[in-house]
Amino acid sequence: MSLLPARNASRPGDDPIFALNREATQRRAGGERIINATVGALLEDDGRLAVLPSVVEALREVPPLKAAAYAPIAGAPEFLGAVIGDLLGGTSLADCATAVSTPGGTGALRHAVSTFLERGQSMLTSSFYWGPYATICDEHERSLATFPMFAEHGGFDLDGFARGLDEVAAKQGRVLVFLNDPCHNPTGYSMTAAEWTGASSILADVAKRVPTTVLADVAYLAYAKDTRSFLKHLEPLAERAAVLFAWSGSKAFTQYGQRIGALVACTHDAAARDAIQRALAWACRGTWSNCNAAGQYAVARCLTDAPLKAKVDGERDRLRSLLDARVEAFNRAAAGTALRYPRYDGGFFVTVFSAEAKAHAEKLKARGVFVVPSAGALRVALCSVAQADVATVVGAIDEVLRGG
Ligand SMILES: Cc1ncc(COP(=O)(O)O)c(C=O)c1O
Repeated sequence: MSLLPARNASRPGDDPIFALNREATQRRAGGERIINATVGALLEDDGRLAVLPSVVEALREVPPLKAAAYAPIAGAPEFLGAVIGDLLGGTSLADCATAVSTPGGTGALRHAVSTFLERGQSMLTSSFYWGPYATICDEHERSLATFPMFAEHGGFDLDGFARGLDEVAAKQGRVLVFLNDPCHNPTGYSMTAAEWTGASSILADVAKRVPTTVLADVAYLAYAKDTRSFLKHLEPLAERAAVLFAWSGSKAFTQYGQRIGALVACTHDAAARDAIQRALAWACRGTWSNCNAAGQYAVARCLTDAPLKAKVDGERDRLRSLLDARVEAFNRAAAGTALRYPRYDGGFFVTVFSAEAKAHAEKLKARGVFVVPSAGALRVALCSVAQADVATVVGAIDEVLRGG
């Protein structure tokens, strides 16, 4: 007799990425030279967590009694307004947006899955995806379906996307799709304007047939080359579909532990928007009740107080340059090697294709290089690798791919 119901009786105890990170940390503490490319946080070249000092200061400046009190259940209005303004300001999406606070982008993804799908239905995403998408679906008794992310030509597989949507729409009469763009985790890929145009028209077509929700997971938006252009491809969809954004303060404000996030939902149908707002507020009450108050007030100020915003943006620019230098070093070192990977021009991660990812990751570990294996690929978190070590990582992967 199990004290737990069957679906919870034999859960794996540890997130695989956190487990790898722990192993890397232990070996380094034991005196080995280790390059740990598993951590999904931006580290300085000396290995310390990169932070934006002005955000730390803004957190300190939240009045203690305000920080200690409960935030409103759906989120602090000044925070939600600031997020909508920052993300969507100047687009028609801003005029038809509603939002709730969530603990990080993860909370926003969770709300999307539980609010926009029936139990037992599938969420659709690309074949390469952030592992917790599947965990979130499973935890909420939904499942995950995928479409092939890359076509033969190396770009986004629009035909595969259309087929995947058609299948899910035909099967369950409702679609929820997650597109993690720009700077996709784990591949580092950002869709081109032509690919967004294609994806948008495919989605518009599905939305004529079944209730359709498209969620842009913009966790890495602040580190993208272009943070705005993709919005114009989503604008027309809000006429008929729900357009959601999983917004995260974790990377944008380097405050992973404060759990600051929001789910922004856009639709021009005012009655539908009102119903969505009520459903999301209900979901907040039924899960975490309300979110970190100090984090919301501090980030609201960082987004709306002009001098503070300028300071934060300037500090973030330095971090973007730090990351961009690693991206350039990676592309330079990988030229002419056995490494095959999607076009990579920014973001925390890049994925190198590998037919034997598990075995290759083990061999890399033996060389002191930690990466995350998944089906057909090795994820390299350049966000946590010093620029001086990038060529070593590429060299080790090249050797292993060549059978070394
Ligand atoms: C693709 C993707 N989406 C969403 C998140 C959510 O991050 P958080 O919950 O820390 O805001 C992450 C974090 O690693 C991510 O990689």
